[in-house]
Amino acid sequence: MSTPGTIRLDVHLTGADADAALRADVARGLTARPKELPPKWFYDARGSALFEKITELPEYYPFRTERALLADSVADIARSSGADTVVELGSGSSTKTRLLLDAFAAAGTLRRYVPQDVSESALRGALDDLRAAYPRLALHGVVGDFTTDLHRLPGAEPGGRRMIAFLGGTIGNLLPGPRDAFLRHVRSVLAPGEQLLLGTGLVTDPDLMVAAYDDAAGVTAEFNRNVLHVLNRELGADFDVEAFSHVALWDAENEWIEMRLRAGRDMRVRVAELDLDVGFAAGEELATEVSAKFRTEVVDAFVVAAGFEPTRRWVDPERRFALNLLTAV
Ligand code: SAH
Ligand code: AVI
Repeated sequence: MSTPGTIRLDVHLTGADADAALRADVARGLTARPKELPPKWFYDARGSALFEKITELPEYYPFRTERALLADSVADIARSSGADTVVELGSGSSTKTRLLLDAFAAAGTLRRYVPQDVSESALRGALDDLRAAYPRLALHGVVGDFTTDLHRLPGAEPGGRRMIAFLGGTIGNLLPGPRDAFLRHVRSVLAPGEQLLLGTGLVTDPDLMVAAYDDAAGVTAEFNRNVLHVLNRELGADFDVEAFSHVALWDAENEWIEMRLRAGRDMRVRVAELDLDVGFAAGEELATEVSAKFRTEVVDAFVVAAGFEPTRRWVDPERRFALNLLTAV
């Protein structure tokens, strides 16, 4: 049983695990054609701070749209859910989550919040802030990878029920195969009746979507290039970071935004820790992230296939974002 007011941090992804995973991803990704890196490596302390800046940009509509949807829906969600534990995957700074926590607290059911993130710095910062704001809540942070570590999340309290929140549209950062595997994995750790609150970006005007990932102030470009700083620091690589330009484009066939880094000239990069030399031709691109946008019928199809029942959906008036409340069947 969790005790009110306690704080705990479990590290399921140690520094050594993260280092091994980074090495494997970089060795594979920089020798692939086209070259690619998974987006989770954006989020060191600087990358997490840059993401926070992105959420404040005028062009980045997903954050504020989802926040408005949450404000409209949390009272209903809390009343109908009855969960005593809110688990959040990829929780980052947990800013928007406070709307959920306040509503569950007002409904009188909330006992425990379990934020999980790959970024230990973001998680520690969030827990510090939350401790002051929610002194009676049991806080149980988990440093882990949501694609591999879900089975190690804390279970339901005796007689209790959990709701997992996966917000921000982060599901769109998974390619379709890993996305479906992830949802089946989430379903497998829930009991029937437990819920998933899933934020999904919707397909909207391509100019608007591209601007959200290519802002005028260049913050997203800096966020994108940050992955090269991570490789320089963690693996002794010698990327000339400023020689790579930020690319964000709408792939209409796959219905996703794709972010890439484009080499401005021919380059040879050494990754000392991997004893790896990598050539980039001028104009060659390194794929760093997809951010898929969905149609609501597609969301219904993939959540049902994973074993969830779509229970309720909130969509903003401009139909740019959806909050999907799903129940494990
Ligand atoms: N949920 C927040 C933050 C979204 S940013 C919001 O809606 O604003 C995406 C978050 O997911 C970051 O905090 C990042 O560190 C985390 N993340 C990315 N890949 C991850 C992975 N594989 N496992 C766990 N967390 C991950
Ligand atoms: C975390 N994720 C949902 C963000 C997105 O919109 O895909 C990451 C991001 N990439 C560029 N800007 C924001």
